[in-house]
Amino acid sequence: MSDPEKRAQEDGPAPRPDAEPSRCEPDGPSNTPAYSDIDLDRWRDYDHVWTDSLWVIESRDTTGGHGLDYHGNFVPQIATQSFLRYTKADDIVLDLFLGSGTSAIEAQRQKRRLIGVELKADLVEYVGTKIEPQLLGDRIRLLQGDATDDAIVGQIRRCLSEMGAEHVQLIMLHPPYHDIITFSDHPADLSRTRGLPHFLEGFESAARHAFQVLEPHRFAILVIGDKYAQGELIPLSFYCLDRMQQVGFRTKAIVVKNIEGNERGKGRDSNLWRYRALRGGFYIFKHEYVMVFRKPS
Ligand SMILES: C[S@@+](CC[C@H](N)C(=O)[O-])C[C@H]1O[C@@H](n2cnc3c(N)ncnc32)[C@H](O)[C@@H]1O
Repeated sequence: MSDPEKRAQEDGPAPRPDAEPSRCEPDGPSNTPAYSDIDLDRWRDYDHVWTDSLWVIESRDTTGGHGLDYHGNFVPQIATQSFLRYTKADDIVLDLFLGSGTSAIEAQRQKRRLIGVELKADLVEYVGTKIEPQLLGDRIRLLQGDATDDAIVGQIRRCLSEMGAEHVQLIMLHPPYHDIITFSDHPADLSRTRGLPHFLEGFESAARHAFQVLEPHRFAILVIGDKYAQGELIPLSFYCLDRMQQVGFRTKAIVVKNIEGNERGKGRDSNLWRYRALRGGFYIFKHEYVMVFRKPS
């Protein structure tokens, strides 16, 4: 057992059964996990890297080019934490629902590479304006395309080959939460799919494409929330988790994250929702999930 491991054990309770010590073995001369640059010899210096399964984010990070410029974008802290925890410098992240490019900006900031797929051509163009020109088309590659279409795998593989790589090292998936927000009129838009079965079918295709190009033993992050329809809670998140498992991913963690940081000032609406909740017997959504999966070797 290394010194820091001994110290960690002396400091706290016995390792939990889910700690998987054998899988945290360093892969080189430095004491880092095989999938991150976290120096375990200095593990006390990493307070900024979260390890608890409850993320209460008080406000959106608006530094380093991030902003709330797209209805439905995730708080940058999700990308920050995911990249710090599950990638090394120069690793390639694949985001199949790139939206306004939060992952791309964070990849630029953390010196990771990225392939981003987004259905809306105007959005792809817009994200391009946020990326440093010397990185665009090189370390940061944007593809206009349909993540649910098998053809996307070929497009991603072509990008990878131009980048001198065979696989990506981290997947980010932040699909529409079915029809909660309609993103476009495009027939392939997952937010326009009629009925839950079709949505889940489309999501599963995207998850399968992600699985195909991910390096074995690396991670995928799914950011997703649930919805209500006709007085019933639809646990979209858990249906999607099931589809991730069906395509071969193993579930590593489920993080519950507050959604305060996502909202523009909602002020007067909150009383109305509280009244409706009291009348209708439901709870107002205040959380969504950041689910972590791993591709087996
Ligand atoms: C929840 S948003 C992602 C937001 C993103 N994480 C960000 O921070 O800006 C989902 C995105 O998926 C896109 N989308 C919907 N269906 C798609 C599909 N079939 N293929 C690729 N992108 C799709 C939508 O246009 C939308 O921008």
